[in-house]
Amino acid sequence: MKTLYNSILILLISIITTTSCKKEEKIKKIAISKDLLKDNIIPKPASLTATGSSFELNAKSEIHYQHSDLKPIAEYLSGLLQPATGFKLPVKEMSSMPSTDHIFLSLTDSIPNNEGYQLSIKENGIVINAKKPAGLFYGIQTLRQLLPASIELNEKQDNTWLIASGTIKDEPSYSYRGAMLDVARHFIGLSDVKRYIDLLSFYKINTLHLHLSDDQGWRIEIKSWPNLTTHGGSTEVGGGEGGFFTQVQYKELVKYAQERFITIIPEIDMPGHTNAALSSYSELNCNGKATKLYTGTRVGFSTFCTDKEITYKFIDDVIRELAEMTPGEYIHIGGDESDATPIKEYIIFINKVQKIVAKHGKKVLGWDEIAHATLAPNSIVQYWARDSTENKNAHMAVKQNAKILMSPATKAYLDMKYDKTTKLGLDWAGLTEVDVAYNWSLENHIDGIKKENIIGIEAPLWTETVENMKDLEYLVFPRVIGIAEIGWTPTSQRDWNEYKVRLGKHKDRLDALDINYYNSKLVPWKSIVSDTIVKSSKDSI
Ligand code: ACM
Repeated sequence: MKTLYNSILILLISIITTTSCKKEEKIKKIAISKDLLKDNIIPKPASLTATGSSFELNAKSEIHYQHSDLKPIAEYLSGLLQPATGFKLPVKEMSSMPSTDHIFLSLTDSIPNNEGYQLSIKENGIVINAKKPAGLFYGIQTLRQLLPASIELNEKQDNTWLIASGTIKDEPSYSYRGAMLDVARHFIGLSDVKRYIDLLSFYKINTLHLHLSDDQGWRIEIKSWPNLTTHGGSTEVGGGEGGFFTQVQYKELVKYAQERFITIIPEIDMPGHTNAALSSYSELNCNGKATKLYTGTRVGFSTFCTDKEITYKFIDDVIRELAEMTPGEYIHIGGDESDATPIKEYIIFINKVQKIVAKHGKKVLGWDEIAHATLAPNSIVQYWARDSTENKNAHMAVKQNAKILMSPATKAYLDMKYDKTTKLGLDWAGLTEVDVAYNWSLENHIDGIKKENIIGIEAPLWTETVENMKDLEYLVFPRVIGIAEIGWTPTSQRDWNEYKVRLGKHKDRLDALDINYYNSKLVPWKSIVSDTIVKSSKDSI
């Protein structure tokens, strides 16, 4: 009797416990699953509908792709999710959507924009549709931001990986969303540039312009002119040892960027900003004498000898070698601050160089001074003017039907100081707090220059004061995140007061990615990691 009584008691307790566990499980799910509307996606997506439940990523989840071409993206996603979840999610080709519990990547012509995507999250599965693989990649970046920030950590976390349900339809406002990195003033090496590419692609930036030559250093191996790197690459601002990319390394970088849907645009700055080349080869100088290497920060003192034939043979060789290892459409020819080149010679020079670039199958990008020349069809002019009195170059470019790439120094230069106390950076274009860098729009910045004249945005980082990756990250983050949103999200949907709250909620992500960002007082930084810890400790009870 006693045994029977005990058995009934155990049964009752176990029924009650199971029911309450189930209830608790449900409460836990609801507590953790977020309302998709309140998520904190940057850049802000075009449209978002929440459906109030969630998908749980677990060890049994799989990543399915509709066509063999998509296998690398599926593998990229699986690799991204593995460290923090500890799940080795298998990738499988499937011609149609699987029944349950999986992530499905597929292409469809019903998405109009080449970089657009539709992300649909249901309790029983996730589908990302896009017109092109680039759109799938951007859908994946959004998905990353819907997971807890700890997904970015490199060690296995004891989390429940819930993703709030709903649908996001998204596409960029501008097709060119870029950053520029000056590897000439201070050399920034391969692994750091790869990390920069990773961080930029997380915010859907699709172009990295590399400023590969300047007065202080030549940073790309050119086999037909080897002294450029052995001599011209041997120092940097302040007299450090400099460095350069071998062609093998450059190709590796191009491929790494391509896998993250980033196009590398190489820049050889000329006819000014050329002391490193002039120091490496005496014949490029009008007086036939090589200059000394330069490790200071003045600008405007150097020029190629524009009426020597050897100058154009040199440029032809450099552009040929560069074009051969650059799959992107554009070569940047610089053209800025050529104060030592008489304007008549400057114009002849730029016209000739544009023809060389075209001969090697590429299009020209150049700083806005190149608008003084006769622009080749499809050239892009990069606006950098520090104030509106310097807008005339952009107007001259538009009159020649060129498109404008927007990099106004007062807003988009990532090397400007945040405020008077910022140790790194320069201030010749003013102080650029995080709100200043965000609070403007491409199509309203220059009178008379409209959206149809503009290809997009680029945020340059000049490295006179930047010696390493930590310095770079401090000046770049968080400003580049706002730059990414300016390029992606229509101006009508952007507002600083709303953005700064969303940005503040990226604190945990920036921390998890170990980014040395500037802790601006204007941003309400908000950590939700503590919630995650509480939740995961509850999970293990
Ligand atoms: C520039 O800042 N010299 C383009």
